[in-house]
Amino acid sequence: MKLDLSGRKALVTGAAQGIGRAIADGLAANGARVIYTDRDAAGAKAAADAATKHPQGHLAFALDVANRQSIADTAKAALDATGGAIDILINNAGIGVKAADRKPADQFPIASWDEMIAIDLTGVFLMTQAIAPAMRARKFGRIVNIASVLGLVPMRLQSSYVAAKAGVVNLTRSTALELAADGILVNGIAPGSTATAGWRSWIHNATSAELDLHARLLSHIPLARPAEPEEIARGALFLADPGNTYITGHILAIDGGWTAGFARDF
Ligand SMILES: NC(=O)c1ccc[n+]([C@@H]2O[C@H](COP(=O)([O-])OP(=O)(O)OC[C@H]3O[C@@H](n4cnc5c(N)ncnc54)[C@H](O)[C@@H]3O)[C@@H](O)[C@H]2O)c1
Repeated sequence: MKLDLSGRKALVTGAAQGIGRAIADGLAANGARVIYTDRDAAGAKAAADAATKHPQGHLAFALDVANRQSIADTAKAALDATGGAIDILINNAGIGVKAADRKPADQFPIASWDEMIAIDLTGVFLMTQAIAPAMRARKFGRIVNIASVLGLVPMRLQSSYVAAKAGVVNLTRSTALELAADGILVNGIAPGSTATAGWRSWIHNATSAELDLHARLLSHIPLARPAEPEEIARGALFLADPGNTYITGHILAIDGGWTAGFARDF
């Protein structure tokens, strides 16, 4: 996808690897100056250094979206470095439910629930609070929140994740309603299973039970394969582009048909 993002500044959370990095790299490849943020500060720096060059250079900051002080510090540094002119915010940072924690709601570990809600849901809310006022002041902004198909159609044994991502879906819509008058368009992406580097190393070392689970998962996807991170990034770029002037409050599923219906007969 070719866009003209020259002169635009974008901040991406969780940009050290995976989907966030693919989105950040896509923004950079289309001319934006990108602020790579991640709790993996070295990873964010390495990703920013490897991105398509920008005349002013990309930026990289440590950021833990579950830590209010970290958000305040990084938002200030990012806004100072850009003269308060962040055009695009991609709320991508997120975690999954560890295999050992996958239990029914009545047995689900509370610490695992709290960590998930703090990162995957409250992190999106707090980052929006930190950056949206500067967008309001300039009467321009594009915010893209990375949810999940599991925020639209839940799966068993992952109550923290399905609740957090469903929260992101409706938070995206309500934020779109609230910020529309100030020229800020807010949309979400619901990726299906995506073949990030983490996923590749997991599948490489997976036990036979995990491989079996994965085969069953793929059987539910009409396109019968996971997405590449760049396929998710393509949708995020489309929604983040200033050329998107009339889509707001929308959740774009990029899921190989996962949420279209049942991919197999009964
Ligand atoms: N990969 C998938 O199959 C899939 C499917 C649906 C949705 N998603 C969503 O896409 C987003 C990215 O997932 P991914 O697969 O690329 O994951 P990933 O684990 O490859 O990358 C996530 C990045 O976020 C960072 N991160 C984690 N917690 C953070 C925190 N508290 N503060 C700042 N950074 C933090 C990590 O350091 C990492 O660099 C997540 O929100 C995830 O829920 C992924």
